[in-house]
This record gives sequence, structure tokens and C-alpha cells, in this order.
Amino acid sequence: MLSRLFGSQRVPSFLYRVSLIMKPQVVFVLGGPGAGKGTQCSKIVEGYNYTHLSAGDLLREERAREGSECGQLIANYIKEGKIVPVEITINLLKQAMEETMQKDEKKFRFLIDGFPRNEDNLQGWNTVMDGKADVKFVLFFDCGEEVCIDRCLERGKSSGRTDDNRESLEKRIQTYLQSTRPIIELYEKHGKVRTVDASRCVEEVSKCQRWCP
Ligand code: ADP
Ligand code: C5P
Ligand code: MG
Repeated sequence: MLSRLFGSQRVPSFLYRVSLIMKPQVVFVLGGPGAGKGTQCSKIVEGYNYTHLSAGDLLREERAREGSECGQLIANYIKEGKIVPVEITINLLKQAMEETMQKDEKKFRFLIDGFPRNEDNLQGWNTVMDGKADVKFVLFFDCGEEVCIDRCLERGKSSGRTDDNRESLEKRIQTYLQSTRPIIELYEKHGKVRTVDASRCVEEVSKCQRWCP
């Protein structure tokens, strides 16, 4: 399936050509829903030459795009707290990375937030991005479930998100525990996880500087 979708490009993609000069350097950012991934990524971007790409934001944009063939599917998955098939997500991420580097070739460092969230995400990344990007490490915002839920419910008062409600959150937490934690553990086995105690206040968390090279 994946090779059918991605493996038969006749013209080398821009990402491939630019990666011969400067390979994208990637930090995966993981943690429970509401752990503060987006908040901390914004802080990192202020101080370091990273571009923040949130898989969730890209999916929400695609959901809202007029004429999108997968908008309805994305909407259903998000509401149910399930992980969208990687064929969709990896294309959005790859396209966003290419656009960023096309605009400015010095922008080759990426914080990829909320990805890879399950085995399917990881396989899709390995299939499509193998040799085309270097994954430096996983930045893991570690935060208890109750704190995560409270933060999302608070965010839900103004976010307009269809999944910042208790019913969706219970499903998102299950997905996180069952599908995302094993991915973090896998990277941990390879010594590639930098863990941050994300339960503290925003300023304390950002002082941690675990993303420094
Ligand atoms: P994520 O991207 O991991 O889902 P966000 O960065 O969107 O999380 O944060 C979720 C909510 O919690 C937001 O409303 C944000 O303002 C708030 N928040 C983020 N980090 C903290 C923190 N350390 N302490 C308290 N609230 C936080
Ligand atoms: O990271 P964020 O909280 O914005 O993700 C919201 C939702 O987007 C997830 O609960 C999931 O339904 C979807 N998503 C996904 N695959 C990803 C990232 C997010 O399906 N890699
Ligand atoms: Mg987020």
C-alpha cells in the first residue's frame, strides 16, 4: 500500500534533492493529550532555529480544506481519539517539510509534534522518510493523566476543538496509553528519549532545556 502511494515517483522529490545537501534534522515531540507539547514547541521555536510542525494541526487544516477527500475521515478519527492512517499524515508532514525548506534552505531542523503516535505512524515514517531525514531524539513531555485531562478540558472552553471534551478525552488517553507509550518505550530502548517533567508550570517546564543539542 505505502510503496504504491509513495514509492514510484519518477522525478526525485524536492525533499530527496535537498537532503543530499542538508538532511532534515528531526526531533519527535510526544506526550499525552494536553501535556503541553504545542506550548513548549512554541517556546523552543522562539529561542532555537527549529520549525514546529504539529501533526494534529496539519490534520485539522486538511479536515477544513475545501475539497479534501479525507476531511470527513479525519473528522471522525479526531472525535473518536483514534490515529488517522499514516498515508494521510505522512503526506501532510512531508509536504510541510518540503515547503519550509523550499522557502529557506537554512530551515532544516524540525520539531514534529504528535508523531509517531502508533506503530502504523512509525512504519509509515520509516517507509517514506528512510534515509531522507535524521531523527535526533524523542522529546517526551511526561505528565499524569488527570493533569492532561484537566488541561484539555480547560483548553476546551475556548479551543473549539471537537475532541476537548470528557468523552473524546477518555478515548484519547486510552489511545495514548495503548498505542503511543509503546513507541516512546521503543525509542527509550535505543537511548533516544529525553524526558521532561511536564506536570510543572509552563515556565518551569521550558527552563528544562532538554532539547539542547
Ligand atoms: P498538547 O499540544 O500537548 O496537547 P498544549 O500545549 O496545547 O498541549 O497545552 C494544553 C493546554 O494546557 C493549553 O490550554 C495550554 O495553555 C495549557 N498548558 C500547557 N502547558 C501547561 C503547563 N505546564 N501548566 C499548565 N497549563 C499548561
Ligand atoms: O496532537 P493533537 O492533540 O493535536 O492531536 C489531535 C488528534 O489528531 C489525535 O487525537 C488524533 O485523532 C489525530 N492525530 C492523528 N495522528 C497523529 C497526530 C494526531 O491521528 N500523528
Ligand atoms: Mg498540541
